[in-house]
Amino acid sequence: MSIAPKIEFLPLTATPAGVLILFCDDQLKFGPAARAILEPTGDLTERAAAAAQFKGKNASILEIVAPAGLACPRLVVVGLGKVKDLKSESWVKLGGAAMGKLGSATAEATIIADIPGGEPKPGRVADLALGIRLRAYAFDRYKTKRKDDEPAPIQAKIRIVAANIAAVQKSYGSRDAVAGGVLLARDLVNEPPNVLFPEEFARRANKLKKFGVTVEVFDVSAMKKLGMNALLGVGQGSQFPSRMVVMRWNGGKKDAPPLAFIGKGVCFDTGGISIKPASGLEDMKGDMAGAACVVGLMQALAQRKAKVNAVGAIGLVENMPDGNAQRPGDIVTTMSGQTIEIINTDAEGRLVLADVLHYVNKRFSPKFMINLATLTGAIIVALGHEHAGLFSNDDALSDRLLKAGLATGEKVWRMPLGPEYDKKIDSKFADMKNTGGRDGGAITAAQLLARFVDKTPWAHLDIAGTGFASPQSDINKGWASGFGVRLLDRLVSDNYEK
Ligand code: BES
Ligand code: MN
Ligand code: ZN
Repeated sequence: MSIAPKIEFLPLTATPAGVLILFCDDQLKFGPAARAILEPTGDLTERAAAAAQFKGKNASILEIVAPAGLACPRLVVVGLGKVKDLKSESWVKLGGAAMGKLGSATAEATIIADIPGGEPKPGRVADLALGIRLRAYAFDRYKTKRKDDEPAPIQAKIRIVAANIAAVQKSYGSRDAVAGGVLLARDLVNEPPNVLFPEEFARRANKLKKFGVTVEVFDVSAMKKLGMNALLGVGQGSQFPSRMVVMRWNGGKKDAPPLAFIGKGVCFDTGGISIKPASGLEDMKGDMAGAACVVGLMQALAQRKAKVNAVGAIGLVENMPDGNAQRPGDIVTTMSGQTIEIINTDAEGRLVLADVLHYVNKRFSPKFMINLATLTGAIIVALGHEHAGLFSNDDALSDRLLKAGLATGEKVWRMPLGPEYDKKIDSKFADMKNTGGRDGGAITAAQLLARFVDKTPWAHLDIAGTGFASPQSDINKGWASGFGVRLLDRLVSDNYEK
């Protein structure tokens, strides 16, 4: 689907071709390679900068068409801001910003990856290439024609000219894997719900086998045998049968307990009998963003051969109203044996996760469990679209997630848990009920999940505000963000591969 631009790394001696992209700092200073190229243009960039009031601010752009003295059709100068402030994540953003200046019609471009005062480290040039990959993405599978101003995948040949390209190439290997994981997650979230129903989702996950991932698909009868009645109850009103997929990547020590990632995969959420209003309902095709992230992450870990054992498990259902649909008032017995009274059939994600969390915990005794879910509208009210909600029973795991969030720009914000909130989900008839009312709605949802993880270190990421329809950025102009893949890949590489 996502056709990648062709990225090539070339030494500083290479001759530029196509659109030329250079970097300058906030003093309008260029690196030595860029200065050499600009030599024949005299004071062109200074004059253009003054005319356009371009100050070299981070990720700002100065564009000069048909620059006198150069053979290139366009010169794009990307501002770095202050070089000393540049972090890994800034380079990803710079790659995205530079890419934003190449339309889908551009055939070729050359980026000179040098900066005033020394060469960027190989890892930073690889970050730049990651940003290029992420920005080049557009989901256009169902467009048979396109208006000029509509986003389209950028397929240009991108030449990145840099020092020490052998080292750059090596660092790019893992970025390439992560980019592939993010784009896979975006594709899954963007797909329409008539195409991506649970069985089809399972088939897509099954493709991870070619990366060396072990994939098991559980059908309805297998889940019945396991007693996963909470998950099955959600899917029982749908024409599409439910599935659970368990993926395993074993790149670590033979007997090391795995890290476990669990995703909510509600392929479409109508709300069920407690049906949602019509306005914006089409967005509920994205209610499987948690599961999409888990699949993207597992692909990334396998492709970059991460030295870690990881399990990815996703619960795939469609929440529909129908003669066979679950009712408010129903009581389901979860795989753990605990019973849940259904108050609102629209609080379905927690029911799916309750069974998958318990299953993973019991079967794998993982080192930790992290689940991702577009779980509540309440988390959007609390945090908007810039942070995912983080709920956890483990401070060390939380701190690592917070750090990985800052490092990747996929930010999380810790929210409280506590026994006081538990009272809100007490039920008259069962062990608990599936909603705790409007107040603290994201917290009471997390509180229910906590009852299915025992003492295992666990974190729940509520990505309702960040998985889709999140703010446009230099590295994403589409609807689905692929949120979580970069965050969790970073969590793993920074802490669990030693
Ligand atoms: N999938 C929704 C949450 C959601 C809302 C995700 C908006 C993304 C954007 C979830 O299943 C849901 O419907 N939650 C209800 C829970 C309520 C009935 C207790 C909600 O948030 O309103
Ligand atoms: Mn719902
Ligand atoms: Zn939902």
